[in-house]
Amino acid sequence: MTAYTLITGASSGIGLALAAAFAARGDALLLVARRGEVLEQIAGRLRACHKVDVQTRICDLAEAAQLDRLCDDLARGTPEIGTLVNNAGFATSGAFVDNAWHEERELIEVNVTALARLCHVVGRRMAAAGRGQILNVSSISGMMPGPWMANYAAAKAYVLSLSEGLREELAPRGVKVSVLCPGTTRSPFFARAGIDLDKLEKEALVMTPQDVARITVAALERDTAIIVPRWYNKILAITPRLGPRWLLRRVVGALYKGVARTA
Ligand SMILES: NC(=O)c1ccc[n+]([C@@H]2O[C@H](COP(=O)([O-])OP(=O)(O)OC[C@H]3O[C@@H](n4cnc5c(N)ncnc54)[C@H](OP(=O)(O)O)[C@@H]3O)[C@@H](O)[C@H]2O)c1
Repeated sequence: MTAYTLITGASSGIGLALAAAFAARGDALLLVARRGEVLEQIAGRLRACHKVDVQTRICDLAEAAQLDRLCDDLARGTPEIGTLVNNAGFATSGAFVDNAWHEERELIEVNVTALARLCHVVGRRMAAAGRGQILNVSSISGMMPGPWMANYAAAKAYVLSLSEGLREELAPRGVKVSVLCPGTTRSPFFARAGIDLDKLEKEALVMTPQDVARITVAALERDTAIIVPRWYNKILAITPRLGPRWLLRRVVGALYKGVARTA
């Protein structure tokens, strides 16, 4: 039976680039996002280019009923998932208490609840089969506090911690778990968060989703636990260990406050 690579948030940015990279290595794909027409166009291109089976599934991961239906199907093994990529996510910016609660709640539902639920349902089947691979997408932001992007940074810290925990729990049961922590990557992510990317980061330090995906797929083949693409992001990833926490909060807060939608 074909085991599919399920990628959430495959309609743009890093998820789309990961879909292309997994198709290039011959994986059958199940692409999940809200925009069905966009997914269908992507699926058509990947089938034509790589001669692989590509299925699509419209699912708003913030809608409990839609997530339930997807998880019920996956619990029955329709289809069987060999690799799970929890990539869908978005950020809010600005002061948490001034932002609309429904947006902050949606952030938790997509970035945290749906990711955990998919790890649970798919991870359980993988553990029973004694094989499988899970990749969760966190962020460098998950390694440090993030004033003015507080809920996003907290959600990504959860993803990093959950992934490391699951890695140890599932390794003896034949399931590999990795977490991707990208730095700034050019995608529609910043427009949705109301952040001007050109103000946030120097162009030379902004990665393309294609480079992130290429490095990630190679790292997964080596079963890397925490994937941080590029040397300058690796340096950022160790900065929380170098100085006091109060200084880190001030520095990161000043950076995010300067670019946030409502500061
Ligand atoms: N870009 C960066 O600098 C950066 C850095 C570190 C980490 N990341 C993480 O990388 C991941 C991908 O981000 P990206 O930069 O590629 O952003 P993106 O281009 O905005 O892509 C986000 C994807 O998530 C999907 N999505 C959003 N809300 C959804 C929902 N309610 N239900 C289902 N799918 C939903 C979107 O699809 P639809 O709109 O079609 O639903 C889209 O495919 C995210 O987890 C993000 O936090 C990004």
